[in-house]
Amino acid sequence: MRKISTSTQSDIKKAAKALLDGSLVAFPTETVYGLGADATNPEAVSRVYSVKGRPTDHPLIVHISSKELIKDWAIDIPSYAQKLVKNFWPGPMTLILRRSDLAKDFITGGQDNVGLRVPAQPIAQTLLREFEKLGGSGIAAPSANRFGAVSPTTVEAVQEDLGQYLDSKDLVLDGGPSLVGIESTIIDCTNEIPMILRPGSITTEMIQKLIEKKPIINVTNTLIRASGMLPVHYAPNAKIKISGVTNAGEGFIALSNIPTPAGAIRLAAPNNLEEFAKILYSAFRTADIHGLSTISVIPPNGDGIAHAIRDRLNKASG
Ligand code: TXA
Ligand code: MG
Repeated sequence: MRKISTSTQSDIKKAAKALLDGSLVAFPTETVYGLGADATNPEAVSRVYSVKGRPTDHPLIVHISSKELIKDWAIDIPSYAQKLVKNFWPGPMTLILRRSDLAKDFITGGQDNVGLRVPAQPIAQTLLREFEKLGGSGIAAPSANRFGAVSPTTVEAVQEDLGQYLDSKDLVLDGGPSLVGIESTIIDCTNEIPMILRPGSITTEMIQKLIEKKPIINVTNTLIRASGMLPVHYAPNAKIKISGVTNAGEGFIALSNIPTPAGAIRLAAPNNLEEFAKILYSAFRTADIHGLSTISVIPPNGDGIAHAIRDRLNKASG
């Protein structure tokens, strides 16, 4: 694996070529880093599963450079989904739609739908455009971490997690710390009423206001095989505690206006909810690096992105 810290136009072009040749490229998006492969290449996609250690029936999100390309991958797009696309792409939102013939079983986990996302992050955008110029159709990319672990929000985290499983032709593009810090909002658009499968920074309130339909919130749906829906996920090695007292020697994460309990080790003191999401996963990683056994977290109250943060905390705590 080669790390590219500059991510110049010519570096990104090389990365696009590597993808087309069947190699893997980890790249930044505004949510978290993704582990990319040519979404039409079964061997490359199968390497994504083995590098992540992820069961192959868990589908992958296909990333495309622009909303216009949605029709390559999806059919029967409901009008509310078109509204979502128009307003929130490029951005931290993934839509589940009925698949076209291009979306094969090895991408969808055998389901008849496909997850699609247009990321806004400039390096991701350039990579996708260069890849498409070379004839590529889309980049499949799960978060660039081992299955069940915390998503990476820095290039160092990607290297720590996956470095030993990648080979010499694979690349990792550095784009600095991720802006949002938690994974995209996933909305199942295969029914009349949209269903939020994974809350994120495109919030339920934003969706409802736009489409004038109340989305169903179903983060525990077990019929759809989404790995983020297993009872424990997004978890560091340290145990996450979201209620009860904080003891001396435990890691501590809370909004900055909440003082650190005596003897606890402050891992993060975000000033607002956006900051909370942005630094949550790197705080988890800091705890693991220091070998802490427990992280005590005071979850933020309220709606919007606070809901997404609580979702990740609940998953991480099992
Ligand atoms: O922010 C994100 O979404 C990041 C960046 C890299 O785009 N990607 C990401 O991918 O978080 P991943 O695979 O780690 O999480 C996506 C979740 C998985 O649980 C996957 O199984 C589910 O979405 N998923 C993907 N396609 C699906 C589909 N067609 N139907 C149901 N669930 C799907
Ligand atoms: Mg993931």
